Amino acid sequence: MIERRILVIDDQKDVREAIAVAIERSFAVDESQALVDKMKARLGGRSSESPAAPHSHSVMNYAVDTAPGGREGWDMACAALDDGVPYSLIFVDMRMPGGWDGLETMKRLFDMDRKVQIVLCTAFSDYSWKEIVEAVGKRDNLLILKKPFDNVEVAQMALALTEKYLAEEHLLHSQKMETIGALSAGLAHDFNNIISSVQATVSSMVFTLDIAGMSKEQLKDELSSDIATVTEAVKQGAEMVQILLSLSKRQELPLAPVDLIELVDRVLNICRRTLDKSVEVAFNHSVDSAVINAYPVQIEEMLLNLCINASHAMTIMRPDGELCGGNLALSLERIVLDIDLAGKITEVPPGEYFRLSVSDTGVGIKPELISQIFDPFFTTKGEKKGTGLGLSMVFSILEKHNAFLDLQSKPGVGTTFIIFFPVG
Ligand SMILES: Nc1ncnc2c1ncn2[C@@H]1O[C@H](COP(=O)(O)OP(=O)(O)O)[C@@H](O)[C@H]1O
Ligand SMILES: [Mg+2]
Repeated sequence: MIERRILVIDDQKDVREAIAVAIERSFAVDESQALVDKMKARLGGRSSESPAAPHSHSVMNYAVDTAPGGREGWDMACAALDDGVPYSLIFVDMRMPGGWDGLETMKRLFDMDRKVQIVLCTAFSDYSWKEIVEAVGKRDNLLILKKPFDNVEVAQMALALTEKYLAEEHLLHSQKMETIGALSAGLAHDFNNIISSVQATVSSMVFTLDIAGMSKEQLKDELSSDIATVTEAVKQGAEMVQILLSLSKRQELPLAPVDLIELVDRVLNICRRTLDKSVEVAFNHSVDSAVINAYPVQIEEMLLNLCINASHAMTIMRPDGELCGGNLALSLERIVLDIDLAGKITEVPPGEYFRLSVSDTGVGIKPELISQIFDPFFTTKGEKKGTGLGLSMVFSILEKHNAFLDLQSKPGVGTTFIIFFPVG
């Protein structure tokens, strides 16, 4: 399968071809380097079966396509994403007369796939950096390449950015697997309860059918409550399968106005089903709607992670002998941060926000660990129980939504994560 797909969108044929050739040459150079490595390994006496240099596999998995305009490029990128083989890197020319210009094309590409790496190619200062940031937000997946290009620079960008895309995909996938893993114990427990209840009810039905001499009416009466029990259990089982399916679905919905209250309700429904039953879940909101501009799947995943962490802090993280359980309380309100207030909260600029807090009565976080908990792979839960990816994903999701995070924690008392979403 081709892993690195690159698209070059430029109205000038010679520029399109120059970029494609520069990339192909550089990947081909790496390919010959891989051959050299292989030869060296053989000459060094190792068996010819010895694996090739690790990069030789990935550098050969690439394809470069070109498109003469924004619209055509966008169509190709949509089709690639639909087919499950998205472009990891897209070069976009800023000036394309006639159709969409570079900025418009790039905006649409980011709306379609927020992870895609884009290199904006420009000869003139058509737009200032500030205007570009205003159009697409502050991003770490956008680079500007000034014309005329340096071929080596183009090739290096292509290698580094496609690598970055693949690494991010991989991280996202591992993290999703961790979330599903963390919830599946609770789901399995509930499934067991459902199966036991169905088994017991069916036995009772068989017993009823064995009783001799009952009229049809009597039989109907006797069986009706058992039938209701089985029907309800099956419905619950089906709902749980739905939850698992929605969690494992990789489809990213586009950026859109969504009501935070609905997202929180959905996440808490999953939590009530799957978290340890010793955890009491509650949600208070002082507003009736809280519309923000968001990728809904991402926000749900972020909230799920905070809730799973909170539940862990009140269960598996408690020292031996301490009672399991506690309260997981979410609250939402709309607030105005003036300069005075904003200054007290690290990094949050003044403005209007929806403030969502996720609070637990768990073990708390030691002050000396707080600076590390957002690092990828940092975990205090041991290898089997944590991957240390949850909070780093939370952080990157919030960044993509221009949201801010604050944190209060007291060892032995509990932790509150507070999120500030700009009012949409
Ligand atoms: N609500 C919380 N209460 C106590 N500790 C927490 C909480 N949330 C996160 N932590 C700490 O931060 C660490 C990193 O969390 P995370 O990135 O989600 O990884 P993981 O849950 O896999 O360990 C956890 O191992 C834990 O020590
Ligand atoms: Mg976690």
